Amino acid sequence: MINLSGKVALVTGASRGIGRACAESLAASGAAVVVNFLSSQDAAKDLVNLIQSRGGRAIAVRADVSERDDVVAMVDVIGEHFGRLDVIVSNAAAGGFRPLTQVTPAGFDSILRMNAAPLIWLTQAALPLFNASPEISRVIAISSHGSIRGIANYGLIGTSKAALESLVRHLAFELGRSGVNFNAIMPGIVETDAIKTLPGSAGMLSSVREQILVRDRMLQPADVAGAVLFLSSHLSDLIQGQVLVIDGGISIRV
Ligand SMILES: NC(=O)c1ccc[n+]([C@@H]2O[C@H](COP(=O)([O-])OP(=O)(O)OC[C@H]3O[C@@H](n4cnc5c(N)ncnc54)[C@H](OP(=O)(O)O)[C@@H]3O)[C@@H](O)[C@H]2O)c1
Repeated sequence: MINLSGKVALVTGASRGIGRACAESLAASGAAVVVNFLSSQDAAKDLVNLIQSRGGRAIAVRADVSERDDVVAMVDVIGEHFGRLDVIVSNAAAGGFRPLTQVTPAGFDSILRMNAAPLIWLTQAALPLFNASPEISRVIAISSHGSIRGIANYGLIGTSKAALESLVRHLAFELGRSGVNFNAIMPGIVETDAIKTLPGSAGMLSSVREQILVRDRMLQPADVAGAVLFLSSHLSDLIQGQVLVIDGGISIRV
């Protein structure tokens, strides 16, 4: 049983999908949770109420993580409210599927600002709180297979995830010895809102069901949350700058 009592965890994009599952699991393990959202205020408040009804501590904070000033303001709120920050799960991401032949300069800039740069802004803003703690602080980024593999119409998002994983390694290089662990999780396809709204998602999900190598399990948000819990705990102290694949073995196929 992982016990995160006394810790404070921030999950970006926690109003739904994988982020919500991570926030629920962190709270169930005893951490106070900051539920970050952009537009889904009601969903974020519902999650805070749910955590509180189970005896946990949580607050919802709106911030656009692609905006550095928003991130700084959010971390200020966390400092004022909880006085510490131990875990950041950088989960929020966006971006449409389209061929690289249709990408514009503005689209390229925007995807990197949304899916990669927030890891820098979150780390910069949290550093004073991290440094005030004698314990290891943890930053966990949610990547995807597109960082290293080809997926139809995913070139732009895949590039942003490759940048995200490089940031994980370089931040670990810069700050690991100061007591901050940076790791990424690479989930396979999880049936969240983001996936369900994609054209052809039904075919994609049935192909996953055929290829998975853990009986006929489908990946659930809770499976990703389990890996987040592990990387949030002392059990992972010596895991630094790595990418943990949670995909039921799909990516070992040729
Ligand atoms: N689903 C999959 O199969 C899958 C597979 C591999 C990797 N991933 C990765 O897992 C992560 C979560 O995916 P998901 O499927 O759970 O996504 P999702 O259901 O689309 O949820 C996205 C979340 O990000 C938030 N968000 C979007 N833009 C934001 C911004 N600028 N600032 C703050 N929050 C923002 C949304 O908040 P609001 O609702 O408040 O707007 C929402 O909570 C992403 O990094 C994704 O790339 C997903």
